[in-house]
Amino acid sequence: MSDTARLILEGQEYEFPVLTGAENEKAIDISKLRGTTGYITLDPGFKNTGSTQSGITYLDGENGILRYRGYSIEELAEKASFMEVAYLLIYGDLPNSDQLAYFTDSITHHTLVHENMKRFFDAFPLGAHPMGMLSSMVASLSTFYPESQNPNRDITDIELTIHRLIAKMPTLAAQAYKHNVGLPTMYPKNNLSYVGNFMHMMWGVPAEDYEVDPIIESALNKLFILHADHEQNCSTSTVRVVGSSQANLYSSVSAGVSALWGPLHGGANQAVIEMLEAIRAEGSPLQSWIDRAKDKTDSFRLMGFGHRVYKNFDPRARIIKKAADDVLGQLGINDPVLDIAKQLEEVALHDEYFVKRGLYPNVDFYSGIIYRALGIPTDMFTVMFALGRLPGWIAQWKEMTENREPIGRPRQVYTGATQRDFVALNNRS
Ligand code: ACO
Repeated sequence: MSDTARLILEGQEYEFPVLTGAENEKAIDISKLRGTTGYITLDPGFKNTGSTQSGITYLDGENGILRYRGYSIEELAEKASFMEVAYLLIYGDLPNSDQLAYFTDSITHHTLVHENMKRFFDAFPLGAHPMGMLSSMVASLSTFYPESQNPNRDITDIELTIHRLIAKMPTLAAQAYKHNVGLPTMYPKNNLSYVGNFMHMMWGVPAEDYEVDPIIESALNKLFILHADHEQNCSTSTVRVVGSSQANLYSSVSAGVSALWGPLHGGANQAVIEMLEAIRAEGSPLQSWIDRAKDKTDSFRLMGFGHRVYKNFDPRARIIKKAADDVLGQLGINDPVLDIAKQLEEVALHDEYFVKRGLYPNVDFYSGIIYRALGIPTDMFTVMFALGRLPGWIAQWKEMTENREPIGRPRQVYTGATQRDFVALNNRS
């Protein structure tokens, strides 16, 4: 079989190398295309464009396969802790017990944020969206830790920055929540697990001892693992592109938080619950919502359905659906919104429009329901996603840095006006 691709342009033939990935995925290497032919490729939304060669996450959208560093998402969600998965993503292998102890200990001891950051929170209006606050706060960390700004990227500085960021994100996320609802912030507690400490900072109050509920802790651990990486998605590509200019890790991840916020990406988990609640409140038949989603003159889409790469099923959605059932059962919660979600899924899965386009429930369809059952406020859903996605963003930023990838800078096909002469103001019609 040929390991080159031939392209004929204006009667001339060019050859380009074909690459084969570890799982047999094929790519045509067009990195020399413009230099040799003068042409560029046009691919809005990068639907067919590989931006990098990466050894972190393998995703087969047709067969619903997702693996971090070779380990299946099903096994990791069942058997691993979020700290193990973070280590695996960032350093490439599962940690042994000494490595895990060192990593966890270092993160536990960097959870405090500078007291001056409290003043930033004070300046945000009450009810400010936690994603806006989180993105600003993560970028602000770079001003407190100037060594993170060194573009020469000393390995020790990078390690420290990585540990600080993993440690401080839950603190900032919980502070954003407390500010949003006007409650006093809680300081971290070093005797708790990563997830348990976050729960304490979210739901603890100074007047009482907070007891970590193991059912909620275990569910959050699983949710964080399921969200931990997803190869070159919108927010991760953002982190890599921002980092490719040698911007520091805090700024790069802050940009990732902003990219995640949009309702077509991580913000979909909030949008799903809002949609389900609207369906419930309105009481109109489900079919009318489905009809609206199919109507091209209506901008309404079924939130939580469809995915750029999964055209069969999203393996994370399967695990979360089961976890949602388990957690609601364990906590004795009967959520009518879950019933609406199940009915909607049933209708959509059998409707020709959705079947033909491969529009299945994605990770966000059920994550909102489980977050709700765990007592997470709707505004915080996307923040939960960001906490889970953090190790992936870091791993991808680190890989991009270590591979010395060039600055990300796409080209364009210009469609504006051709050159024209300036017209003086009094001569313009
Ligand atoms: N409801 C109704 N129709 C849809 C939906 C939906 N949720 N999603 C896609 N379609 C339709 C499109 O209108 C289009 O139809 P057409 O071929 O007749 O024009 C077709 O399906 C393909 O959709 P695209 O928008 O071209 O697919 P793309 O890969 O660009 O978008 C996306 C993927 C953004 C996820 C889209 O499916 C969507 O908007 N879903 C709802 C938002 C959502 O749940 N986002 C979370 C994704 S998961 C994540 O980021 C963590």
